[in-house]
Amino acid sequence: MYVAPSILSLDYSKFKEQLDTINEKCHYIHFDVMDGHFVPNLSFGPDIFKAFRKNSNLFMDVHLMVSDPSYFSDVFIKAGADGITFHDEALGTLEDKMALINKIHNNYCKVGVSIKPKTDVEAIIPLLESVDLVLVMSVEPGYGGQAFIDSAYDKIRQLDEYRKKHNLNYLIEVDGGVNDKNAHKLKDCGCDIIVVGSHLFKDNLEKNIDDLNVYE
Ligand code: DX5
Ligand code: ZN
Repeated sequence: MYVAPSILSLDYSKFKEQLDTINEKCHYIHFDVMDGHFVPNLSFGPDIFKAFRKNSNLFMDVHLMVSDPSYFSDVFIKAGADGITFHDEALGTLEDKMALINKIHNNYCKVGVSIKPKTDVEAIIPLLESVDLVLVMSVEPGYGGQAFIDSAYDKIRQLDEYRKKHNLNYLIEVDGGVNDKNAHKLKDCGCDIIVVGSHLFKDNLEKNIDDLNVYE
């Protein structure tokens, strides 16, 4: 199970130092994009993203918490994203969701679909054979530092069973309230990637990553 640091919580006065640590110890960087509309908060645009891209060869996983994922997927693919994850709730029809998935794939970029805590796995079943990753939100999207919502465990188990049964190979990622207390259980449920923000950056970044890398 891999650790994807959520750089929403990075200490920007130590940008280079913290990014060097992440480059050395991780495989992914999780980059949260918020538009102040799909979620009541704003985060980063493509210029900040490019500063990370310039200083890292890790897989840059862009989590779009936006109402217009089609527009922003173009923006972040152009900026150098390796993977784009959109929210199922942001698009209405299966046709629109499939069109977005195909567009992103046609740009040689991986695609993830994310569900909020109140959305059931059933909502995304028709997409599962077309995506590379499913992101289960274990907090309401919008802010770092919230408490983990337990319903995520069952969703991860359900997604793991489904991919085994149907011979699919999407990755399962969880985001929100992940720490050294719940990582073990998340691995047992079948999770492949944990997104971790406030827990990693609250004090000793190196040690906090090492402690979670034991689950690799
Ligand atoms: C929340 C974001 C998360 C957030 C996680 O909307 O999607 O990626 O940064 O932060 P923690 O780990 O602090 O819950
Ligand atoms: Zn996120």
